[in-house]
Amino acid sequence: MQIYTKEYLTSIQRIEQANNRKDAPILYIETYGCQMNVADSELVISIMIDNGYAITDDFNLADVIFINTCSVRDKAERKIRNRLKVFKFLKRSRPSVIVGILGCMSERLKEKLIEEEKIVDIVAGPDSYRSLPQLLKEAESGQTAINVLLSRDETYADISPVRRDKSGVSAYVSIIRGCDNMCAFCVVPFTRGRERSRSPETILEEIKQIIYEGYKEITLLGQNVDKYNWNNELNFAGLLRKVAIANPEIRIRFATSYPNNFTDEVLKTMADYSNICKYIHLPFQSGSSKILKKMRRGYTRESYIERINAIRKILPDCSISTDIIAGYCSETDEDHEQTISLMKNIKFDYAYTFKYSVRPGTYAARNYKDDIPERTKGKRLREIINLQTKISLESNKKDINKTFYVLIEGKSKRSSNRYFGRNSQNKVIVFPKINSKIGDIVRVVVTNCTSATLLGHIVKVDDIIKLIN
Ligand code: SAH
Ligand code: F3S
Repeated sequence: MQIYTKEYLTSIQRIEQANNRKDAPILYIETYGCQMNVADSELVISIMIDNGYAITDDFNLADVIFINTCSVRDKAERKIRNRLKVFKFLKRSRPSVIVGILGCMSERLKEKLIEEEKIVDIVAGPDSYRSLPQLLKEAESGQTAINVLLSRDETYADISPVRRDKSGVSAYVSIIRGCDNMCAFCVVPFTRGRERSRSPETILEEIKQIIYEGYKEITLLGQNVDKYNWNNELNFAGLLRKVAIANPEIRIRFATSYPNNFTDEVLKTMADYSNICKYIHLPFQSGSSKILKKMRRGYTRESYIERINAIRKILPDCSISTDIIAGYCSETDEDHEQTISLMKNIKFDYAYTFKYSVRPGTYAARNYKDDIPERTKGKRLREIINLQTKISLESNKKDINKTFYVLIEGKSKRSSNRYFGRNSQNKVIVFPKINSKIGDIVRVVVTNCTSATLLGHIVKVDDIIKLIN
């Protein structure tokens, strides 16, 4: 890792230096899927810059094109395959361009990707990024280059990511890689390998750098952050506490939590530190215990509700979002109704909703029939989305007349004289700019809302950053 000293270079400086090098080959990288992929692409850029590459945002200028891919649903893969058609066209006019597929699709499909997509020169799985310069050498000499080995200990702990977040306000810090949960429907354990935690020292060091670069918020990342475990000495709550104490001036978020592993100790730590945001993403997937069992999630409807009750008790002002899958194998109308009733009962502030998509090789693909017709999956999903829209609107209406500390992230897409930012509860608030700038924490009173956004105006721009909320 670039150790934080007076000579420490920011991400912008590193890119500037890289792009000033004469005749450096140029890399373009495109990222799909989860936040972990965004963080991984930042590692890849760091590795490539250190190996003499320049970086561009325009693929027409690139010598090397990397696509960091997602396999979580078939739709994600199809989108990426469509995108490859654009690069195929580019390669026809410039055959020397090297195309590399990174991430989960590489790991899932391996050499098949090269057979199926004729333009692909490099296939690199999530644990192979240190070997990218070597893979490029092989590709340049006309061979196809593959590295899809998964590792038990790779955490890229010593690599300083080159941050690409446009607003410069919020940064990701990966704390644990892989997933051992093996939910029956999920391809992630196969594409990202076994769980392994990163040392607390390198996490804290990276956060120092992030603050030096001017960021105001970090998100600690993992497929299941609650399984964080450093040598049986430090668990996730302990890490969270360390990070919160060491960095009182920034906001701290984390994702994703897992119902079985989400402890009261984490909740109490959140309650103890005002700089830890009061927001939890706790996927439930289905409201039916029968389906949850078939999903191999390891909890029931009742034990999930018990976790929600613990959140409400220890953190009354915490917002909660979730993930829901519609139309899993053998899901009946009654099972679906249980999902609907759980949503009505808990009233999530937000939900990410998906139609079940068979992932080859998973337990569900091997053992159960994907027996819910597409039309039924669609109907159930629409019902879930419509209900959630109503619940989100209700939740937002409750915020009218309340005042929140908001970290400004950027200009509103709809209107250039408005900013948007988030409150501690991760709700997006849009308001007129007035004496403020991106990265400021401002106090905003909510005056109106839609189901997706709160609307308001600034009541105070704080000179001293206060994060109590
Ligand atoms: N723990 C991970 C989950 C990754 S997958 C995290 O960090 O978020 C994200 C969500 O995608 C899951 O919670 C689930 O709701 C959905 N998902 C995963 N596999 C799926 C599949 N085969 N079909 C439909 N949705 C799926
Ligand atoms: Fe997937 Fe379950 Fe892990 S949804 S990422 S196997 S927690």
